[in-house]
Formats: sequence, structure tokens, C-alpha cells
Amino acid sequence: MTVLAAEHISKTFGAEAAAAAGVQAVRDVAFTVEQGTFLAITGASGSGKSTVLHMLGGITRPTAGRVVLEGVDLAGLDDEQLALLRRRRIGFVFQRYNLLPELSLAENVALPLELDGKPRTACRSAALEALEQVGMSHRADHRPDSVSGGEQQRAAIARALVTKPAILLADEPTGALDSANSENVIALLSKLVLEDRQTVVLVTHDSTVADAATRVITMRDGQIASDETQAAATGVPSS
Ligand SMILES: Nc1ncnc2c1ncn2[C@@H]1O[C@H](COP(=O)(O)OP(=O)(O)O)[C@@H](O)[C@H]1O
Ligand SMILES: [Mg+2]
Repeated sequence: MTVLAAEHISKTFGAEAAAAAGVQAVRDVAFTVEQGTFLAITGASGSGKSTVLHMLGGITRPTAGRVVLEGVDLAGLDDEQLALLRRRRIGFVFQRYNLLPELSLAENVALPLELDGKPRTACRSAALEALEQVGMSHRADHRPDSVSGGEQQRAAIARALVTKPAILLADEPTGALDSANSENVIALLSKLVLEDRQTVVLVTHDSTVADAATRVITMRDGQIASDETQAAATGVPSS
């Protein structure tokens, strides 16, 4: 089943100047993502990775082409509808965890559901379930500053999963982590794909991170330079 389609998307910033200079951040990028895929988008800094991810997630609107998520053309949505779709159907993970320091991990994870007006007890149980999925149940009532960076990122991933999104979009999620924590977070993303059939699109400039993916798109100067399927990484923890 196709979850997401990028149909020849392009992005030009500061339209007039950029067009005159012939500079586009992203040019005619096209691919589809099937459910249960772990797709890494890699490439040098400035190659357009984040801009593509932002367009996939409805944070930035393409200047040409369209993004279709679960059959819905994002261009057909107004800003309010797009914000709702982002909250309900897309899980975002960034380099910075952006957890609220005064809330426990469980309260942070519950936030997307609370914003959606779900009952308190339902929010709490869904948050605990998401923390279980990322192996962080034992830290549910801890504040973010009392756990490691890797554990904070796990909690941020739980917050992204709590709405049971169609797709998880991660931009350099290991960028602030040491290598042990980084491997841990990547193993978690692999587990979510292989065991839970989650669909993940990960942006990274780090080729060792990209090696964990089942498919790697490499970008160069705003365009796709290569698109390769590879064997799923081995050694993924079973829990
Ligand atoms: N908001 C913006 N305004 C103007 N230019 C931008 C903006 N965001 C990105 N760019 C430019 O678009 C190109 C691609 O950037 P980006 O998608 O962030 O690349 P990457 O994530 O691969 O490092 C770069 O040349 C960058 O300077
Ligand atoms: Mg980037």
C-alpha cells in the first residue's frame, strides 16, 4: 500500500531572486513510499533533504508538484486542515527533542492527544503504550532532564507515535547524540518498521545512519542522484 507520494515536487525560496539566479532548493523530486518502508534520504549539507521532508510533512508547500498522503492531496487543504492532518497523521522527530521540561515524559508524550481534546485517561494510557513501544515505560514519570539525550529522543519518538500516524518523518534525529545513543535510536526506528510495520522517512547526512534503512535516496543539488533498495539491517534488538 502506498502511504505517501511526492509527485515531481520543487521548491524555490524567495521566488524572484532565486528564479533569476536559477537556484532552486529542490527540483522535480518524485518517489512513492510503501507502508513498512524505512527510507533514508541522504546527501551533503544543502542538498535539499530537509526541504523535501518539510514538503512531505506539509510544513512547507511545494512551488510545483504535489504531495499525496494516504490519498489526500495536501495542496487541496487550507492551512487549518493541513495543521490538523499534521497533528493526526504525521509524526515528526527532529534533532532537538523539544520536550517540555516541566512535564514528565508521559505528559509530554500525551500532549498531541490532549491538544486534540481526547479524555485525560485515554491520553495517559496511549502515552504509556507509546513509551512501551520505544522501551521507555520505566521512565514514564521522570522529567526530561533526568534522563539521557538518547532516552529523551526515544520519548520524542513516542510523542510522534502516540497518534498512530501514517508516517514518521525524522530530520537528523541522531544529530545531537553520541554514537552509542545514536545506534540505539536507529535500532529503535528499524524495530518500529520491521516489527510494527511503521513507515519511516529519515533525513541524515550520515551514511552509517542511512545504512540501517531498507531504501536510500541520495540527493545532490536539490535532485535525486540515486534511489536504491537495500537489505534490512541485521542485529536489531527484539524488544
Ligand atoms: N527558508 C529558506 N529560505 C531560503 N533558502 C532556504 C531555506 N531553507 C533552505 N534553503 C536553501 O535550500 C537549500 C537546501 O536546504 P536544505 O533543504 O536545508 O538542505 P539539507 O537539509 O540537505 O542540508 C540550501 O541551499 C538552503 O540554503
Ligand atoms: Mg537539513
